[in-house]
Amino acid sequence: MTVTVNFRGHEEPVTCGPEETLLRAGLRAGLALPYECASGGCGSCRSQLVEGEVKSLWPDAGGLSERDRRRGNRILMCQSIPTADCTVKAPILDRLPVSREAVPERVTSRLLGREALSPDTALFTLDFSSPIDFLPGQFMLLESPDGVRRAYSMAHPAAGNDCTTVEFIIRAKPGGAASSWLFDKVQVGDEILVEGPYGRAYAQSGSERPALCIAGGTGLAPILAITEELLVENQTRPVDLYIGARMARDVVLHDRLARLNELGARVAVSVEDPDFAVNEPSGWAMFAASRVGRVIDHVAEDWSDLSDHDIYLAGPAGMVDAALRALVRERGAFSDRLFFDRFIV
Ligand SMILES: Cc1cc2nc3c(=O)[nH]c(=O)nc-3n(C[C@H](O)[C@H](O)[C@H](O)COP(=O)(O)OP(=O)(O)OC[C@H]3O[C@@H](n4cnc5c(N)ncnc54)[C@H](O)[C@@H]3O)c2cc1C
Ligand code: FES
Repeated sequence: MTVTVNFRGHEEPVTCGPEETLLRAGLRAGLALPYECASGGCGSCRSQLVEGEVKSLWPDAGGLSERDRRRGNRILMCQSIPTADCTVKAPILDRLPVSREAVPERVTSRLLGREALSPDTALFTLDFSSPIDFLPGQFMLLESPDGVRRAYSMAHPAAGNDCTTVEFIIRAKPGGAASSWLFDKVQVGDEILVEGPYGRAYAQSGSERPALCIAGGTGLAPILAITEELLVENQTRPVDLYIGARMARDVVLHDRLARLNELGARVAVSVEDPDFAVNEPSGWAMFAASRVGRVIDHVAEDWSDLSDHDIYLAGPAGMVDAALRALVRERGAFSDRLFFDRFIV
């Protein structure tokens, strides 16, 4: 069923197709709607349903507080599919950051490969029948036949207008709904429904500032894409890449890290495992540093002032939140030069 949505403050009514969320319909209409995770977890897309009806893809989504629920008319645009004509009061952003962003679409892809990178992490390659467009650092929602939708970040830039294969670095969460589907059920050759691209934590092309790129766990995926883009775009810009992992075996894709190193990135690795030998495993000599401990502590150790930097961060929400606090409060980082994705797991 197609319905009409009126976003308060925007004159033109927006048509919303079947199975289309308010967020996607609004972005398609060119509205600078606020959002971050597109997964129901962060609350950035919280809005007020003034009139009409919506169904929620995730009624218990963490992005709404108990207080929001008591109010009765608070909704998450990324989780709401209108079932009748609606009026929505959404905080449309003044500064329009969307002009470079491709409009999110729903397309069918095919699983081309699943290569184990560590005992619980794999590189998934999806094949699309026509080229898709995205910015380095963005993500897509992969959807199972049962309707489980989860966000995964592209691990490389789109590289021109003919990108038909896309790679994702995915960690299996024990008992996780998408993890069970992606690691145990879906077979090479099977179709996978994909919605995207989404995300605003992408490489800022045109910036002359030095860049710090910080990845925790599979936050490596968007950070690889961003680092590559920054280095290829401007060979003189200093780029420092920090990788945080629980165990040495979680530091994956050494060939790509070596390539980024050759392109000019200084690569430093932090391993939390206290048993991590100070004598690095063979092949780790390319890293400028390999240390035991938390990646954010090592960033803070290496930098006393980050007021000149663009900073890119991706990884588990707890790690990203702690890093944001530390970098802004203690190292002078500017919040409008921080670009981050909090993985909700
Ligand atoms: C912007 C972004 C980018 C990400 N990129 C990556 C990546 O590149 N690689 C990677 O490995 N992981 C990534 N993640 C994490 C990933 O999306 C999954 O959370 C993770 O794979 C675990 O999913 P699961 O279904 O296996 O686990 P589950 O435990 O089943 O789900 C994980 C979480 O999803 C949330 N959730 C969302 N919708 C629902 C729903 N309808 N019902 C119940 N819970 C729901 C819950 O908070 C739950 O804790 C990213 C997350 C975000 C937000
Ligand atoms: S809850 Fe909708 S964007 Fe995060």
